[in-house]
Formats: sequence, C-alpha cells, structure tokens
Amino acid sequence: MDRPIYLDYNATTPLAPEVIEEMIPFMKEHFGNPSSSHYYGREPKKAIEVARERVAKLLNCSPEEIIFTSGGTESNNHALRGIAESYREKGNHIITTAIEHHAIIEPCLYLMKQGFEISFLKVDRYGVVDLDQLAREIRPETILISVMHANNEVGTVQPLSDIKEIIGDRDIILHTDAAQSVGKIPTDVEKLRVDLLSVAGHKLYAPKGIGALYVRKGVKLPKFIHGAGQERGLRAGTENVIEIVGLGKACELAADNLEDNSNNMKKTRDLLAEKLLESLPQIKINGHPSQRLPNTLSISFPGLEANRILDRLTSVAASAGAACHSNEIKISHVLDAMGIPIEYAKGTLRFSTGIFTTTEQVLQASEDIIRAVKTIAND
Ligand SMILES: Cc1ncc(COP(=O)(O)O)c(C=O)c1O
Repeated sequence: MDRPIYLDYNATTPLAPEVIEEMIPFMKEHFGNPSSSHYYGREPKKAIEVARERVAKLLNCSPEEIIFTSGGTESNNHALRGIAESYREKGNHIITTAIEHHAIIEPCLYLMKQGFEISFLKVDRYGVVDLDQLAREIRPETILISVMHANNEVGTVQPLSDIKEIIGDRDIILHTDAAQSVGKIPTDVEKLRVDLLSVAGHKLYAPKGIGALYVRKGVKLPKFIHGAGQERGLRAGTENVIEIVGLGKACELAADNLEDNSNNMKKTRDLLAEKLLESLPQIKINGHPSQRLPNTLSISFPGLEANRILDRLTSVAASAGAACHSNEIKISHVLDAMGIPIEYAKGTLRFSTGIFTTTEQVLQASEDIIRAVKTIAND
C-alpha cells in the first residue's frame, strides 16, 4: 500500500536532504567533543559556531544572542521560568494568551503555583489577540508578555510589533513562541520587536530534539541547566553537535528560500481549500483570512466528528482539532477560545502543507477527503 499523503507539516517535517548531508560527517569522522582542545574538538566547535551564525542570520540577530536548546518546549520553559526568576524582584505578573501551545501554558501554570499571577488574553473569532485587553492588563508588576507568533492549530499570526508599541518604554520583556512561524514567514526579531524568541528545529526540516532561543543582548536570563558551562553557561551539557549542525543548515535553507517555500506551501494549501469548498460548501475555514501561516488549513466539517473522518481517511495524514473519547468530546482550547460553535469545533481537522507537498498530492487528498466526508454523512 502507498503511504498516506503527508499533510501534517505543523506536527513535524521530514528532514531536508541537504540537512541530512550536512549532518553525516558529524556522525562519522567529526565525532569529537567540541570542548576538547585537540584536533578532534576543532571541527565540531567550528561547526557549532557556523550553525549559530546561520540561525542568527535567519532571525536577524547576532550569533551571541542565540543559545541552542532541545527544542521549542525547552526554549519556552527557559524563557518563561528564566525571566520569572530574574525579574521576580520587580514583579510577579505575566501576560500570555488563551491560545498558546502547552509548552507555554504548562510553565505558566507551574509559575502560578510559585506565586506568579498570569493573565490569559482573549482572542477574537479569527484567533487574533485582544490588544485592548492587553493594554488594560499591564500593571506596574508586569515583567513578561509572551504571545505566540503563529498558532499551530489555525495558523493565525499575531501583531507582535503592535504589542511592543503598547509596551512602550516600560521595562517589560516580550517573548514569542515562534515554533510554527520560523521558516514559513519572516521572523526578523528587529521587525517583530521581541526580546526572546523560541525556535523548534523539527518544524523547519531539521531533526526533532533541537531548537534555539534568541535572547536579546541585555536581557537577564539565568542558567537553565547547571553544569560545565556550555552555551555561555546558560545551558550546560556536551552539545548536540549533529543536530545543531542540522538546525543551522535548515535555517540557512529557510533564509535562502523563504519566499519560494512560502509560495509553494500557500499554493498547495489554497488549492486544497478551493477543491474542498467546491464540493463541500458547508465547511468553514478557521483562522484569520489573511494574517495566517501560508501552509495551515484548519477546516470544520459541521455535524461530523474529527476522529471519525480521520478513521475513514486512511490515505491522508492530518490532525484532529477535537478528540472524542467514549461519547465525551474534548475540543481544543484554541477552537474554544475562538468561540467556534461545538457543532463545527468537534468536526475540525488541521491540514498543513510543506516544501515537499505537490499539486498532485493535494488533488488526490481533496478527492479522498470529499469521499470520506460524504460517506460518513450518508452513514
Ligand atoms: C507553537 C508550538 N510551540 C511549541 C512547540 C513544541 O516544540 P518541540 O516539539 O520542539 O518541543 C510546538 C510543537 O508542536 C508548537 O507548535
């Protein structure tokens, strides 16, 4: 049997062939410890710094402002828990949104238990954060605002530079979880006007288990992992050289091909939407009509259950926006915060395209989806 058509690039991406090529020498001859001062340490040490430069170039920052982490979750934990620790003297209030990934929500809940107060901002029906509420929530004790750049489920992109405008010259750190946006849309930290930004390698054709955190010069971030002093002492432990090299290459590719990649993702995503809407006019697309990732298509099939559609749709790999366990339907917190009616929310699927998605694949997938949906509706 052919493998299902992969339309779940927001969950993870395959490795780019160039990324694999770049990593191979570090699995073979360049196995040394980058901290070794002898011959074997030299190539790995140099490669880490090349990778750091490549990540920095994509984000438009200096290499010293990048630390390598184990992925988006660690970057977010380091940012939130670190800023909370460093700035606790100044205040105990953090602002975030109701539609963040669990990698933000859970550290926030943990910090609540440590005595921090967290405000979760509402979003509108498109998933855009309420900036008036944000302005109202800021208090003298506010130390950190963390707003995701692009949402993983519906793709809505947040107006981050407007947030900095609201902060003005107040001493509040702005962090963004850019796990989903890096490599899909521009992520220039100067234009976004953020102080901290989280990167997840496996969303941009690098391996799983590698990521980065941008830390603007001057921001006080404490150590996250204590040990022998790697990553400027902030994240100790012998570096994951192979994957750091992979992330660096993926960032270089993303920077060189951002527009072409983005256009291809958008072309295939929009074709899929068009084909589905033609045959299934009752469906609704979630997320902002224009301020949305070029690859993300969250669709609600009213009256159906997401997992039932996926069970039928064995030829396409996609994600459900709701899970149904023994008659209890659990709607995602994102769709819930956007106020998507239950009849729509429970039948929501996320399709996400990527750089390897072809027109043929989406044409085939659209036929399969339409057939599955019609079959279930007639059951
Ligand atoms: C928005 C967002 N943040 C954080 C993460 C977690 O990243 P990682 O899997 O690298 O820990 C993800 C992954 O799904 C994500 O989509």
